[in-house]
Amino acid sequence: MKALLMSGPAVDGSATNVAEVPAPEPGPGQVAIDVAYAGINFIDVMARRGDPGYASGWPYVPGLEVAGTIRAVGAGVTGRQIGQRVAAFTPGGGLAQVALAGAEVIAPVPDGVALATAASAPLVVATALLLLTERARLRPGETVLMHSASGGLGSVVSQVATALGGARRIGTVGRPDKIADGLAAGWDHVFARDGDLADAVHTIAPDGVDVVLDPTGTALLDLDLSLLAPGGRVVLFGNAGGGTPAPLPPAGRLIGHNAGIVGFSMSRLIATDPRAAAEALTTGLDLVAQGSLRPGVTVVELDRVAAIHDLLSKGLGRGKYVAKIGN
Ligand SMILES: NC(=O)c1ccc[n+]([C@@H]2O[C@H](COP(=O)([O-])OP(=O)(O)OC[C@H]3O[C@@H](n4cnc5c(N)ncnc54)[C@H](OP(=O)(O)O)[C@@H]3O)[C@@H](O)[C@H]2O)c1
Repeated sequence: MKALLMSGPAVDGSATNVAEVPAPEPGPGQVAIDVAYAGINFIDVMARRGDPGYASGWPYVPGLEVAGTIRAVGAGVTGRQIGQRVAAFTPGGGLAQVALAGAEVIAPVPDGVALATAASAPLVVATALLLLTERARLRPGETVLMHSASGGLGSVVSQVATALGGARRIGTVGRPDKIADGLAAGWDHVFARDGDLADAVHTIAPDGVDVVLDPTGTALLDLDLSLLAPGGRVVLFGNAGGGTPAPLPPAGRLIGHNAGIVGFSMSRLIATDPRAAAEALTTGLDLVAQGSLRPGVTVVELDRVAAIHDLLSKGLGRGKYVAKIGN
């Protein structure tokens, strides 16, 4: 089968190629999926550049989310039929014609939902839902601020915030020329992080924001806390800049403001509570089927994925990309 193969860590696409590799067979508790579309994610870039904990080993086939049809089921799997249309979290290996997934972290794709769209449901739609509900506990009328708001995840978080009754949605982007992309992604206000962001945010939200979603690591944590309204929550869910996250601030800074800092990792949730991840995936697909969420995707061929990884690595991605793999 064809797969996107990273032969070793690299700062660019020089070690990434489409290669012929053996198709994997499902082990106990797994299903094999004929992949129609696979999501392309910034986390693939973190694996490519060799950030610890992202590639399981080398050579590495990236790809953490797919949609397609079940090709084979492993021992002990019940309730899944060959030929069923599904979306799935994959533990890597998704950017390939055949991918394996744990049977407990797949969900049927409802009629009317295109497989290209469904391929963005695991790591984007489900993550957006869990960030704002389980982790941020967003309540109707609250204000949400998200960093790196114009990307694949950002464009869906803005929609989920609206669906949950969020009153004001503020996005930040790394450069002024991405402000238009952030507005196109559905954010009410978008600011570049090169000016006086705190002043700009306080103009929109004089009392502060209730929720900050931060995928950048801890570099902005001091700013995040300064932007919070009383009772506000910061959700840390990434480390885009790489490196070792800084220690958390002194407890007094949280106690004195009734503030909270929580973390989120989908891979850790899959490892510890796969049912919660699958439920979020099912809920997300249902919301898409109902028309409550409309994730936009740009479809590219498998041999273009390394170039999309380059775009993402330079912060030049626009919205969500998925790779067309099969039919
Ligand atoms: N915790 C989880 O389970 C989970 C799940 C999915 C995604 N994520 C995280 O959510 C973020 C968005 O993911 P995505 O796939 O939708 O990617 P994306 O937003 O399409 O692209 C990544 C964005 O990260 C920002 N960025 C910040 N520092 C960067 C750096 N040093 N190099 C390159 N880009 C940098 C850039 O936006 P700006 O220039 O606007 O800042 C860039 O556009 C990523 O950080 C990802 O790791 C976490």
